[in-house]
Amino acid sequence: MKLSVIGCGYLGAVHAAAMAELGHEVVGVDVDPVKIEQLRAGRAPFFEPGLPEVLASAGASGRLRFTTELADAADAVVHFVAVGTPQSRDGNAADLRYVDAAIDGLLPLLKDGDLVVGKSTVPVGTARRLAERIAAGGSGARLAWNPEFLREGFAVKDTIEPDRLVYGVDDERDAAVLDEVYATAIAAGTPRIVTDFATAELVKVAANAFLATKISFINAMAEIAEATGADVTRLADAIGHDARIGRRFLNAGVGFGGGCLPKDIRAFTARAEELGRGESVAFLKEVDAINLRRRRRVVELAQEALGGAVFGRKVAVLGVTFKPHSDDVRDSPALDVAVQLKGLGADVVVTDPEGIDNARARHPQLLYSNATDEALRHADLVVLVTEWPEYTGLDPAHVKEIARGSTVIDGRNALDAAAWKAAGWRYVGMGRN
Ligand code: UDX
Repeated sequence: MKLSVIGCGYLGAVHAAAMAELGHEVVGVDVDPVKIEQLRAGRAPFFEPGLPEVLASAGASGRLRFTTELADAADAVVHFVAVGTPQSRDGNAADLRYVDAAIDGLLPLLKDGDLVVGKSTVPVGTARRLAERIAAGGSGARLAWNPEFLREGFAVKDTIEPDRLVYGVDDERDAAVLDEVYATAIAAGTPRIVTDFATAELVKVAANAFLATKISFINAMAEIAEATGADVTRLADAIGHDARIGRRFLNAGVGFGGGCLPKDIRAFTARAEELGRGESVAFLKEVDAINLRRRRRVVELAQEALGGAVFGRKVAVLGVTFKPHSDDVRDSPALDVAVQLKGLGADVVVTDPEGIDNARARHPQLLYSNATDEALRHADLVVLVTEWPEYTGLDPAHVKEIARGSTVIDGRNALDAAAWKAAGWRYVGMGRN
């Protein structure tokens, strides 16, 4: 099929490459000429495992093109809208300007039978409004909403082998078009839920709200554990054995970040308030508050570890991305902790395998090092905030030799506490005695 993908960020670039890999003829469109140049050259504009390989193989097939000209999307019959919906500058609601601009740009190109497919995460009600605009355009094109659940770090796999497909449609015929797009996944037995626009939009925010709540739940238990001497990781292991609860997303630590969870729960709250149903999701404010408290907790632990004398002390911050296997620092708890420590006067050195360039662009006042040992050398305190294997696999005896201090704060409860203690470290976890 001939597809266009509008917006080539974390979502769109992966979607475009994966769809071409599956045999479709795809044109990816983005307003950023630098990004398009990189994609044309087969280079991923961000770190995503597996993406360079798919870009290379789809590019070689001749089925994948990238352009800054929206007019090049005119031949396509299915147009995916994969632009960002960031948090507004002046509040919690989602900023829909890029979605609206994509629809504005597409309107004059649409033909009878075309399907515009929204993938961006939007407040419930947006799809209906956009469908009305497309209908008013008189082209005969239609709209579907097809939320995306990909996780950064596993984006290619999640796109090619999704765990479910959700179609929000006005008409069953539109579901048949999407079935053709996703023929490979459907043939592999992927569950498919066909529903209305509002449900499809809500599925996405409900899923992310649930995941955020699960993380904040265990982080709330970490706070109680800290007050009682209990160990939250053992608690998570024990409750996680209950299949109804499950162990995944019960890792207590510095909390969630990234381009989705934080902004999605805020946008959901804002939308619910607009709908007069603020109280239904009022708990998400608490979820957000617990999450942000855990960042401050790491900073408090660092202050305690340094005996209150933070100024001029060298703190090695291991990790700056919001999670491992990504270069994304959007709303990263790790970056937040580094900035807060720097604000207290600490001599912070941040290291990360992939996130330094993005972090430096946002916070040039921090000192960065590509070399883990350099960051650790003479450090008065070691703080792990992103659980990259490079850091969880560090030899504590080696770190002991090069660092000056002997306290490690494990902001992700990801280190082998016994091994670090055995090497002479004072180990400080999150919610662990
Ligand atoms: C998330 C959703 O998982 C995905 O389905 C959606 O499409 C986009 O948002 P992503 O932002 O890539 O994906 O990251 P995810 O793996 O969900 O992690 C989010 C944050 O939660 C990270 O900062 C991670 O470190 C944190 N986290 C995750 C925890 O603190 N504890 C956990 O147990 C799990």
